[in-house]
Amino acid sequence: MEWLSDPNADPVVNVDKLTYAGNLRSLAPLQDDPRHRFVRADIADGQAMAELLARHRPRAVVHFAAESHVDRSIDGPAAFVQTNIVGTFALLEAVRAYWSALEGEARQAFRFLHVSTDEVYGTLGPQDPKFSETTPYAPNSPYAASKAASDHLVRAWHHTYGLPTVTTNCSNNYGPCQFPEKLIPLMILRALAGEPLPVYGDGLNVRDWLFVHDHCAAVREVLARGRIGETYNVGGCNEMRNIDVVHAICDLLDELRPRAQGSYREQIRFVTDRPGHDRRYAIDAGKMAGELGWQPAETFATGLRKTVRWYLDNAEWVREVTSGEYRNWVSRHYAS
Ligand code: DAU
Repeated sequence: MEWLSDPNADPVVNVDKLTYAGNLRSLAPLQDDPRHRFVRADIADGQAMAELLARHRPRAVVHFAAESHVDRSIDGPAAFVQTNIVGTFALLEAVRAYWSALEGEARQAFRFLHVSTDEVYGTLGPQDPKFSETTPYAPNSPYAASKAASDHLVRAWHHTYGLPTVTTNCSNNYGPCQFPEKLIPLMILRALAGEPLPVYGDGLNVRDWLFVHDHCAAVREVLARGRIGETYNVGGCNEMRNIDVVHAICDLLDELRPRAQGSYREQIRFVTDRPGHDRRYAIDAGKMAGELGWQPAETFATGLRKTVRWYLDNAEWVREVTSGEYRNWVSRHYAS
């Protein structure tokens, strides 16, 4: 959507498997845009990827596809190995065959952009320097390990086969249309539903919050001007403790949709910690700023207000994404 808001943007073929977290309603604003085509397919299906590449002949592939929720990777890591590792491998092979057959300017200009995460770097202590592009990989969850493996595949496909790749490693995204398993939309919706707000452990884990539109702008810059074979860290410059994030959400809801009595903060509950819970993530985005002139435009206060408003205004979207399968998972995961 972000991409096509530019009237001069190239067309997009949007490939998604539509698992539990997918929702076609998110694409409704693009319904009448002839530059957008949606295809339901799995990146692990190499044949389907090869056919799509042959039919649409893209100048770039931007690989966002992933299983992405840490708690789910702890419950069931197989899907993460399948999509994030096997799927990336299948996609890389299809793209390599397509790119190898390109000639001249088309071959020169082609890019494969791999979108990854800061979780590949592991966890930081309170005084540690932020993650940079040279921080050693030390993934701690099955999700992070699967993303680290995919980053290594992309790196190897560049070094061995010359595939023109670039990789981005971003911090925690938030904003409109985020599936409500992630902290911020989960807390907004549970608060509105009058449910307990489950804060893991002591609530002092730190995340670096990146508004989704800032992330999109960064991906666009890296695609246009990132150097082949390089990685770029993308962060929001917004380090926050989880409990402070939850308090900020409660305070905004108290202002925008007050309870009959009392504050949403009364719904907060400290619950058993996530196994292997990383303590702190923080991104040094100096390379993005220095090389590509990118900086996040949104502060946490402005981005969170937009996000809370969006969830208040889009109850129908929420109703559609929270399918039976999702509700079952939530009741299992938060049972105690
Ligand atoms: O850092 C980038 C990563 O951020 C992405 O690569 C992942 O795909 C994305 O899921 C996210 O990982 P986190 O585990 O940090 O995000 P999550 O929203 O699940 O949790 C954020 C923090 O909030 C984390 O410290 C755990 C805590 N939390 C989360 C949930 C769902 C709670 O305290 N209670 C909860 O119910």
